[in-house]
Amino acid sequence: MNRILAIIGASQLVTLDGPDRPRIGAEMRELAIINDGAMLLRDGRIVQTGARGEIEKLIDADCEVVDAGGRVVMPGFVDAHTHPVFAGNRADEFEMRAAGKSYQEIAASGGGIRSTVLKTRAASEDELFAASRRYCEWFLRAGVTTIEAKSGYGLTTEDEIKLLRVIRRLDEEAPLRYVPTFLGAHAVPDEYKNNRSAYVDLIVNEMIPRVAREGLARFCDVFCESSAFEVDESRRILQAARAYGMGLRVHADQFSPGAGSQLAAEFGAMTADHLEYAGESQIWSLKSANVQPVLLPASVLMIGSHRYPDARAMIDAELAVVLATDFNPGSSPTPSMPLVLTLASTQMKMSPAEAIAAATINAAYSLGLGGEIGSLEAGKRADFVIHDCDDYRELGYFAGVEHSVGVYVAGRLEWPS
Ligand code: NIG
Ligand code: FE
Repeated sequence: MNRILAIIGASQLVTLDGPDRPRIGAEMRELAIINDGAMLLRDGRIVQTGARGEIEKLIDADCEVVDAGGRVVMPGFVDAHTHPVFAGNRADEFEMRAAGKSYQEIAASGGGIRSTVLKTRAASEDELFAASRRYCEWFLRAGVTTIEAKSGYGLTTEDEIKLLRVIRRLDEEAPLRYVPTFLGAHAVPDEYKNNRSAYVDLIVNEMIPRVAREGLARFCDVFCESSAFEVDESRRILQAARAYGMGLRVHADQFSPGAGSQLAAEFGAMTADHLEYAGESQIWSLKSANVQPVLLPASVLMIGSHRYPDARAMIDAELAVVLATDFNPGSSPTPSMPLVLTLASTQMKMSPAEAIAAATINAAYSLGLGGEIGSLEAGKRADFVIHDCDDYRELGYFAGVEHSVGVYVAGRLEWPS
């Protein structure tokens, strides 16, 4: 069916039109905004963007018209780092942190990732699907249209496969787009505590081949940190994933400056994520291989730390910075990209424009989807959001407000549904 739709009356149509690559340096501040803008869509793709008068000329009787009513229209957020499939939650740890315990202390005393692993192993695929389907609604409401989704709360072959199947089913049945990442190297499970290398063997010899055979993940991620996987362990895992053709992402330098960034560079990984402790040498490593930094300020906020990554140094180094939520039940129980924009500007001194480029087009490129999503350009998928504000800077500025009033995926209104 030829479904033609025109969106008119955008106070600002924030297109992010630009080169066919991620934005760096001053380019991150160029959002290619069309004032009083409009766009024409056909069958879920963008045909043309332009000034209202220009697009209105193309409207005929077959065309459905949506008036944005003088509001901002921009690409859906692309959240390039989430852990959205898990059972239960860790509100108890939230309370413990309020009472003074740190995230790492809680993890070291049996809480943290391992406590979610126990509950997630006990849950069925249907139960996990139902829980994650609820979070899907939260993402949509916040104006997110694509998320990268990691496994990592199973940590046995069958349980990791179970999580990745849930992600596949969500992608098929829920309105959000999901990009699956295998994160068997999220933590060493208790049963391997005294035999870590056997767990790495299991990931390399059994999990990765199986995940690849079933086509369940586009990326492989490793939590490279002294409290999780050491550099040599991480290297073995990345080698195996690369051999199976997976793209690579690395959780690096979250709690200490380590060799995670260097490792990401050594493998030409797509991204190095977190980077709270990344300094000059880590930034230099990322630059040497054009690895995209994925910054997760909500996880800094939620664990009560004050150590934010040095976004300014990364932008100055012309790295193609990405912002994401890190949605997970422990360090970052928020699906809110608007909150991330607020933190990016208040805590990391990114301009509102830089933050938007990092949360859309740069995020799309970090998932290998820069040609399809992340900007409003002819030929791309019509994933966009109408926000109830007349200037894009209000998104992070009016903090804690749900701005989105219409979320469209492939030209279809998905929220409110
Ligand atoms: O990205 N760093 C490791 N993993 C998550 C935390 C997951 C959890 O606490 O359950 C993160 O912060
Ligand atoms: Fe994470």
